[in-house]
Amino acid sequence: MASSLVFSVSRVILVCVAFCLPLPLQGTPESPFHNPNAKTFSSPEDDLLYPLSPVVQMGKHYLMKFGIGTPPLETFAIPDTASNLIWLQCGCTNCYTQTSPTFDPKKSSTYESIKCSSDNCKNTAYSTNCNGLDPDCSYNLSFQDIGTSSRGHIAMETLMFQDGLNRKYPMFKMIFGCGQDNKDTFGVKVPGIMGLSNHSSSLIGQSSFIDFSYIFFSNASIGRSEVRIGFSPITGHLTTALAPNSKGLYIFKDVDGIYVEGEKVDIPESVFGYVEGGSGGLIIDTGATFTELNPLAFDALIRKVKDFMPTDMVEKRDVSGEKWELCYDNKYRGTTDILPEIEFRFRGTEATFPLKDKNAWIDNNLGQFCLAIKRGVKDGLSRLGMFQQRDINVGMQVMQARVSFNYQI
Ligand SMILES: *[C@@H]1O[C@H](CO)[C@@H](O)[C@H](O)[C@H]1NC(C)=O
Ligand SMILES: *[C@@H]1O[C@H](CO)[C@@H](O)[C@H](O)[C@H]1NC(C)=O
Ligand SMILES: *[C@@H]1O[C@H](CO)[C@@H](O)[C@H](O)[C@H]1NC(C)=O
Repeated sequence: MASSLVFSVSRVILVCVAFCLPLPLQGTPESPFHNPNAKTFSSPEDDLLYPLSPVVQMGKHYLMKFGIGTPPLETFAIPDTASNLIWLQCGCTNCYTQTSPTFDPKKSSTYESIKCSSDNCKNTAYSTNCNGLDPDCSYNLSFQDIGTSSRGHIAMETLMFQDGLNRKYPMFKMIFGCGQDNKDTFGVKVPGIMGLSNHSSSLIGQSSFIDFSYIFFSNASIGRSEVRIGFSPITGHLTTALAPNSKGLYIFKDVDGIYVEGEKVDIPESVFGYVEGGSGGLIIDTGATFTELNPLAFDALIRKVKDFMPTDMVEKRDVSGEKWELCYDNKYRGTTDILPEIEFRFRGTEATFPLKDKNAWIDNNLGQFCLAIKRGVKDGLSRLGMFQQRDINVGMQVMQARVSFNYQI
């Protein structure tokens, strides 16, 4: 991606003199959905004129960088494809420690509160709580994976992104949760969460764009991690269908299964098969740090991976607090090509989605390497998490309900 930003700037400027210059995007909270006339451009010039957010790494988390308020305060949020709301610690009564300054709505001239009676409060995707005493729209959410919870008020603000030429790209009147009372059980210290789901209250739903894409590099010296709104390249690598659903999740429609060294793992159809109202399915969830599989899939995968491990490699019990369930001594890693290939396959395409070794295994920093996949909850959705999506350009064609995966290294 980074390379496409560099080329032929002069052509871009010519295009801009003719048509564009600041193309501020009006958030359209009143309209329940995207602008149906918004087009998907694929020419590189246009590509530079879309809002993007540089992504920085903090520990094992990737964070979008953007501004909020007027004048804008630089802040950060975990991009979460499975979350409907944008929220940040804000106007704190009880906030946890974060690594950058906390947003104070009193210092912004564009902060607007939202009343309980307004449609913007009623049409929300978040559990609102209008009890008659508080005239302002409130919310209360918790996020199990990163261990945060947030309670506060729904409000509107200007969010400031940038375009591919480093110019400011404001999005006005964006609905967000001003989190006044928040908890941070695991001490992640992130200011908030950027909902990127297919719901009218997410960043995507509030924009007039119908596509987005992201890339999170495992090593910042390889390339620039970013989230790009309005641009989703389909590049002939794995492309597969998503199943539109009432929750606004990005659910794979055609999961065939997981394969280890070409052998199919024995998982009941219902585990990855999505039906509306049912409990099965595999979703794309950048808010989950690691992939989580339904226990039926997880146990079967672990058994199959063990089948392919050399017999002299003795399984070790994880000594870290992460509770990894399949670990080995580091002395075995990297010596030979011993780790079995794990891949997801989809019906209707020859292309597969392999987990490269670095996206499948993790060093627990205590002399062991472990399968970086977690046991999910019984009868729950399985989640393709952030760690397993590293170094892959993920293109989400939201309205066309397709996703593409394109390995960058
Ligand atoms: C917020 O949600 C949590 C968990 O769902 C619940 O325990 C708590 O009582 C709620 N708080 C309010 C004020 O509704
Ligand atoms: C990242 O890549 C650079 C350059 O290839 C390398 O020197 C560095 O060790 C890598 N960092 C990690 C954490 O792998
Ligand atoms: C997103 O929602 C729109 C409107 O409900 C729908 O047409 C579209 O197919 C959905 N896309 C996905 C990927 O679910």
